[in-house]
Amino acid sequence: PVLILLGPPGAGKGTQARMLEEKFGMVQLSTGDLLRAAVKKGTDAGKQAKAVMDAGGLVSDDIVIAILRERLGAPDIVHGVILDGFPRTTPQAEALDQLLAERDQKIDAAISLDVDDNEMVNRISGRYACAGCGEGYHDHFKIPQKIGVCDACSGTEMTRRADDTAETVGSRLQAYHAQTAPLIAYYEARGALHRVPAMDAIQDVAARLDAVVAKTS
Ligand code: AP5
Ligand code: ZN
Repeated sequence: PVLILLGPPGAGKGTQARMLEEKFGMVQLSTGDLLRAAVKKGTDAGKQAKAVMDAGGLVSDDIVIAILRERLGAPDIVHGVILDGFPRTTPQAEALDQLLAERDQKIDAAISLDVDDNEMVNRISGRYACAGCGEGYHDHFKIPQKIGVCDACSGTEMTRRADDTAETVGSRLQAYHAQTAPLIAYYEARGALHRVPAMDAIQDVAARLDAVVAKTS
């Protein structure tokens, strides 16, 4: 199946996508992760994207769609995908419909993780991740069993994202409301929208997502 996770920064898209990946064998496809990898590699797209990402704006549709098109063609995508952070604008949603149509596929569910804006700052300011495997953690909400040691790979190097600052969170939320929130109506009109309350604990939100996946695949 093809699932889309919609939701503001810090809603838990990445956290939930990784859990779905493990449970159902689907591939998590995060345009944020792909862009951060391009920045690290120093590709042309990465160079253009870096300043925009650090300021909390949206990277241009052309760059993001090109990155996604390339990734969707990779051979590891067998049991479906979870799109995490894409699409984020109406042109991206239209491009996705077209990319999938070329592959005789369509969207099975667009899941909106619904959270209050004031929760975002708490979630984003406490976030860090394992540098080795990317597993995400939080200073208060998701603590590894042994502090400083990754539960998933036993790595001990942890990183925080350059755009996870109090100032940037405001711009990212603004970009979400102005450019991404309209996609809720876009998918509702296509009968693909599922709204999932996401203010509760990670496991409770995960159970709601499992129920949606069971219904749609
Ligand atoms: P991206 O990487 O997609 O970031 P984002 O949308 O801002 O989302 P986040 O990764 O911040 O949050 P999340 O929802 O995944 O939350 P998480 O699970 O980590 O994009 C970064 C930038 O790249 C953008 O600003 C833009 O510039 C660019 N970009 C990316 N895609 C683009 C596109 N398509 N078009 C244009 N530009 C694009 O959870 C957050 C924290 O909370 C974690 O610490 C977690 O442990 C904790 N947590 C999660 N769930 C819960 C819970 N239920 N209760 C308590 N804590 C929780
Ligand atoms: Zn790890």
